[in-house]
Amino acid sequence: MAIKTIGVLTSGGDAPGMNAAIRAVVRTAIHNGLNVKGIMRGYAGLLQEEIVDMESTSVSEIIHRGGTILYTARCQEFTTAEGQKKGAEICKKHGIDGVVVIGGDGSFQGAGKLSALGINTIGIPGTIDLDIACTEYTIGFDTAVNTAMDAIDKVRDTSTSHERCSIIEVMGRNAGYIALWCGFANGAEDVLLPERYDGNEQALIDKIIENRKRGKKHHIIINAEGIGHSTSMAKRIEAATGIETRATILGYMQRGGAPTCKDRVYASIMGAKAVELLIAGKSNRLVAYKNGEYVDFDIQEALAMTKDISEDQFRISKLLVR
Ligand code: ADP
Ligand code: F6P
Repeated sequence: MAIKTIGVLTSGGDAPGMNAAIRAVVRTAIHNGLNVKGIMRGYAGLLQEEIVDMESTSVSEIIHRGGTILYTARCQEFTTAEGQKKGAEICKKHGIDGVVVIGGDGSFQGAGKLSALGINTIGIPGTIDLDIACTEYTIGFDTAVNTAMDAIDKVRDTSTSHERCSIIEVMGRNAGYIALWCGFANGAEDVLLPERYDGNEQALIDKIIENRKRGKKHHIIINAEGIGHSTSMAKRIEAATGIETRATILGYMQRGGAPTCKDRVYASIMGAKAVELLIAGKSNRLVAYKNGEYVDFDIQEALAMTKDISEDQFRISKLLVR
């Protein structure tokens, strides 16, 4: 049976570019003669029936804005079989026969459950962490690394003036992609990735002392959130090296702000692709970007995939620092 009405929701942590994806979903659907409903606050809003009609103008003036106009939430109830059944029933009650879920791995688990209950669902990867295995691109990563890069440049200025050591903690949950990219882009002396860090703080300390002897004016350590403890690490390094050491935790600023051009473009294309998959009668699929192409994967197969920081990229990032 052909799809007539679709819903769209954002779930999990927000990411810059989600609005561009919502806009693309709404406009592609309307262009194809479908009705669109916005489901507010992710699965939590679905269970509360926070569902609004969306027109083409509902998504005007949002392509350049960070955050998500649909708001986002985490919802414990939807992880239960009862919650999922209730969610599917609410979709049916509102005539929603397809849902586009913009979020991360957790949100896709939920999408898979909805699909099994007869609601066609398509996921779009939205997270600044880049930690979704089936895709080389996730909405928000590009903006987040650019925000972090700019902030780290600023910390570097003052760090150099004061001849200090700086530990700058970036987000990424258990993944080190933001840290690795900033390591390259900011020319950091050290990058600590959860996937690679062996906990050898003494080696770090020795290197800082050695660099200072060679005349280096600052020492920038980018520390991934998955390692954390930046403040206590700074205290230990200062005590061991005698060099003033400060910790800066960049935090939520990395999740906000106007999306970059890349995030706007990729999110727009993924949004359109998601609706086209629903129109083609597909369900339980994730839109992804791989090897230069937009592709789609079965949700469970995608969730079973793994990816890791490239050993080669990590090696090169270290080799470029003098
Ligand atoms: P992300 O989507 O960014 O990974 P979460 O892991 O917090 O974020 O998941 C977002 C939401 O997706 C959760 O609050 C929950 O409502 C839903 N979800 C997560 N895991 C499952 C699951 N196993 N089954 C059904 N829904 C889930
Ligand atoms: O997944 C995006 C992210 O910002 C992670 O980098 C971070 O670990 C997490 O979300 C923080 O989530 P919360 O908004 O619940 O503090």
